[in-house]
Amino acid sequence: MSEKPLDAIFEKFLSGPKIFKDREVLRPTYVPDNLPHRNKEISRVGLTLATALKSGTPSNVFIYGKTGTGKTAVVRYVLKHLAEKCRELGVSTPDNVYLNCSTVNTNYRVLAHLCENLGGSVPFTGLPTDEVYSRFISMLDSGKRLMIIVLDEVDKLVDKDGDGVLYDLTRINHSVLRLARVSIIGISNNLKFKENLDPRVLSSLGEEELVFPPYVALELQDILRERARMGFLDGALEEPGVINLCAALAAREHGDARRALDLLRVAGEQAERLGMNGVNEDHVRMAQNILETDRVSEVVSTLPIQSKLVLYSIYLLDRNGSSKITTGRVYNVYSDLCKIVNLEILGQRRVSGLIAELDMLGIIVAKLKSEGRYGMTKKIRINVPAKQIKEILENDYHIKKTVNYVPPRS
Ligand SMILES: Nc1ncnc2c1ncn2[C@@H]1O[C@H](COP(=O)(O)OP(=O)(O)O)[C@@H](O)[C@H]1O
Ligand SMILES: [Mg+2]
Repeated sequence: MSEKPLDAIFEKFLSGPKIFKDREVLRPTYVPDNLPHRNKEISRVGLTLATALKSGTPSNVFIYGKTGTGKTAVVRYVLKHLAEKCRELGVSTPDNVYLNCSTVNTNYRVLAHLCENLGGSVPFTGLPTDEVYSRFISMLDSGKRLMIIVLDEVDKLVDKDGDGVLYDLTRINHSVLRLARVSIIGISNNLKFKENLDPRVLSSLGEEELVFPPYVALELQDILRERARMGFLDGALEEPGVINLCAALAAREHGDARRALDLLRVAGEQAERLGMNGVNEDHVRMAQNILETDRVSEVVSTLPIQSKLVLYSIYLLDRNGSSKITTGRVYNVYSDLCKIVNLEILGQRRVSGLIAELDMLGIIVAKLKSEGRYGMTKKIRINVPAKQIKEILENDYHIKKTVNYVPPRS
């Protein structure tokens, strides 16, 4: 036995067959030079932004589509090429500001980032939002310029902090700015997002509206083939099985290119770890399991405590072999748990709402069943490995206190 256990592992890893040529091109952050099956979308966004080439102000654009349909990639692609064209023509290049609202998720932080982009500095918190807005306006309007602001995942901002900044930004061209102009590209994964917007914001933000459809399996195959050529060594993939399977699995969810690329990359990592000199369909299936496990972990571990307690109640009923898990029984167990951990007991309706959310997340399945003359009830079952739920939840500080609890039999 070697004295230094890692030496052997590193050595084995390095001397094993090589699979990847360039792993980075398979990561979701990489923007390829070529986006197959998005010509129409690229042209639409490009045509709108082309106004900037003649020193005009492009209309605002609003883009919708499910995750992994290429929204971010297309916008970044068009902005990059627009800037290149401006340089080539010698016209002034727009200031492009890309903000992802899943992290830049308050009106204050959006404005602070915009100021920073113009070379100003704003404390992380502390100023009134109006003050940051005024600073932004005075810096922006100090000269003639066009700023193109991309608000990616803008639904996260509005959910958290309302549409105040959107309202202001969609208005400033006409009512506030004298020299500078702003164009906004809003991107949302949530198709229902529109319903939450002030109609005035909606009409100015949605001057141009574009929906990105999910990819079908054949399109995903093309996308994967191109990336695989750059990412894997020649002959490292079992063809055409590996790519077809990644595409089929991702298409079955909703035509998500990110998912398809993740499957391909993780399959490659599996083959590498096992010391194989090629990637086959088994590795793709392993990748599918790993990604699904990761997804469940992330979803369950980030649930608010009340939802965790509801889910743990369902888990306990399931573990104790309850034949019928109904909303009522879950509620009873949940109430007991709340008492043990000393948390407020939510009402039946709120708990029903939390159950519906867990259902939407795919963690459980809750089916409405008729209960004869007593009306309707929900029958609930767990939809992911129960062991995983147990492991994650029993790590929670509150839930640790309840592990000796046994739900009443019925
Ligand atoms: N048409 C395409 N061609 C090549 N890669 C693509 C294409 N569409 C999406 N991708 C890749 O898939 C991943 C997800 O795309 P992204 O633009 O982030 O999706 P969205 O923003 O709609 O969630 C990224 O790695 C992106 O490069
Ligand atoms: Mg995106």
